[in-house]
Amino acid sequence: MAVSETQPASPTHGAVQNAPVNVNVQPKKKLLGREFYKSIGSPKYIVAPMVDRSEFAWRMLTRSFMTPEESKQLLAYSPMYHARLFREQAGMRLQHFHPTRAAIKGDDNTLYLDGNPAIDRPLFVQFCSNNPDDFLEAARHVAPYCDAVDLNLGCPQGIARRGHYGAFLQEDWDLIYKLINKLHNELDVPVTAKFRIQETKEKTLEYAKMILSAGASIIALHGRTREQKGHNTGVADWSYIRYLRDNLPSETVIFANGNILNYSDLERCLEETGADGVMSAEGNLSDPTVFSKPPAVGSEGREYWRGRDGKGGYRIDAIFRRYLDIIYKYVFEQPVPERKPLYLPSDPEEPEPVTEVAAEEAEEDGPPKKKQKRDKTKKPLSPSLGVMQGHLFQLLRPMVAKHTDVRDALARSRPGDMAAFEHTLSLTEKAIKQGLKEYEQFPERFETSPDQELKGSKATIAEYGRPWWVCQPHIRPLPEEAMELGALTEKKKGSAKQDKPKADAPATPAEGTATPTNASATTPDNLVSG
Ligand SMILES: Cc1cc2nc3c(=O)[nH]c(=O)nc-3n(C[C@H](O)[C@H](O)[C@H](O)COP(=O)(O)O)c2cc1C
Repeated sequence: MAVSETQPASPTHGAVQNAPVNVNVQPKKKLLGREFYKSIGSPKYIVAPMVDRSEFAWRMLTRSFMTPEESKQLLAYSPMYHARLFREQAGMRLQHFHPTRAAIKGDDNTLYLDGNPAIDRPLFVQFCSNNPDDFLEAARHVAPYCDAVDLNLGCPQGIARRGHYGAFLQEDWDLIYKLINKLHNELDVPVTAKFRIQETKEKTLEYAKMILSAGASIIALHGRTREQKGHNTGVADWSYIRYLRDNLPSETVIFANGNILNYSDLERCLEETGADGVMSAEGNLSDPTVFSKPPAVGSEGREYWRGRDGKGGYRIDAIFRRYLDIIYKYVFEQPVPERKPLYLPSDPEEPEPVTEVAAEEAEEDGPPKKKQKRDKTKKPLSPSLGVMQGHLFQLLRPMVAKHTDVRDALARSRPGDMAAFEHTLSLTEKAIKQGLKEYEQFPERFETSPDQELKGSKATIAEYGRPWWVCQPHIRPLPEEAMELGALTEKKKGSAKQDKPKADAPATPAEGTATPTNASATTPDNLVSG
């Protein structure tokens, strides 16, 4: 159930307070496969593992749009961690994973954020590895705080090629078997694996069988090959997932991954693939409400916007507020600020408040100055703080090309500087207020008429695009369109370097990279680029 006006927005909706609880070190009986899946509530919806993106605060934000019951049925994966570094370096663990308060306060071993059973479960923690001992020892650090440990077999990036992990293990079945089997035999919690489709359905099936025979309790299949990345990402092929479903025992738990752009795609994917669960990465990043059923017509409240054509979505300013409030509450453990209700055009007209602070801040608008750019910010302690700017650029993508003041303010917001993020939020709210007012007067400016002639990504944009104040998927050109635009060249197609973007081409996030979204990248459609 989505949150509406009658159900006040709350970043903790669907979550219990993170009360101190002592770590439960009692070993539980280890369940496997479907029995294990049932024991964690048979989750249907899954937040994908995402480097620098599926950290605690983002998982909480995604869960915050669900009822407590639904939120327990949302499984989330942690970002991928490097097993050897995680095993060897306490500093690395401290930088990325905060299961107990010891992370912030010496020897306080009460439960804190990552994997806290009251608020952050079910959770799978993902590693990349090419060494069974490293994998096991790294996994032992997280096993008490998660439901399963996952092996990344899908990362297609150059860094994975050089480090020999992710999708570059897929020629080394013997090593994959040993990695999974080691944890299957020696770890207290189950091991799972996420991988990409292979050249053929038959090969993908053989590959999956090997992974399962090693002891993987759940498999997650991304319907794209290792070569489908960057501008060559294209569309995921769900028929491979269906093929596995039809040819593996019904006891095998399968998650489908790829192509989820909004809520309505979730059930379609489950139906077409027969998978037990459906996972979203990019769809979730541009719209953290992607797993939440939209409110019924008439109960939109302030957070959800619906146009006169019936199409709608959660407002960017609403998500932005909730995200900051989660950071205050859980990371800083401070009271959430009192906020005025989100603006609705039906509200009585009020004069714009001009405060001294606002005036001072306005003077600072414009691109970040060189001196500020060079400022070396101290590394933030919480894994949820350093990634805020990246998340917000992704979320605000539909509007920053037009509202450059918002873009510049966000570019200046340093990790942990909540005043700077609040300033960006107030500019966002102001811009959205103007947008909503404009819509009231000229709705046709924001509407597209149905056009059967549209093809490729333009057709997708026409279907999924919303006015710029609404969270929506970023739709990148298909590989053939990228080729026409000159971002992908024929010569390189199929080669290892095929996805190298031209200097001026918009960056696209890709698996296993920590590349922040290109804030100024535009989509080809005015409707979504603002
Ligand atoms: C920013 C970003 C980071 C990612 N990091 C990881 C990762 O750490 N581990 C992994 O298995 N996949 C990673 N992926 C890939 C996703 O989990 C997913 O397989 C892929 O994006 C396809 O799903 P989608 O079509 O819903 O985006 C990442 C994807 C993105 C966009």
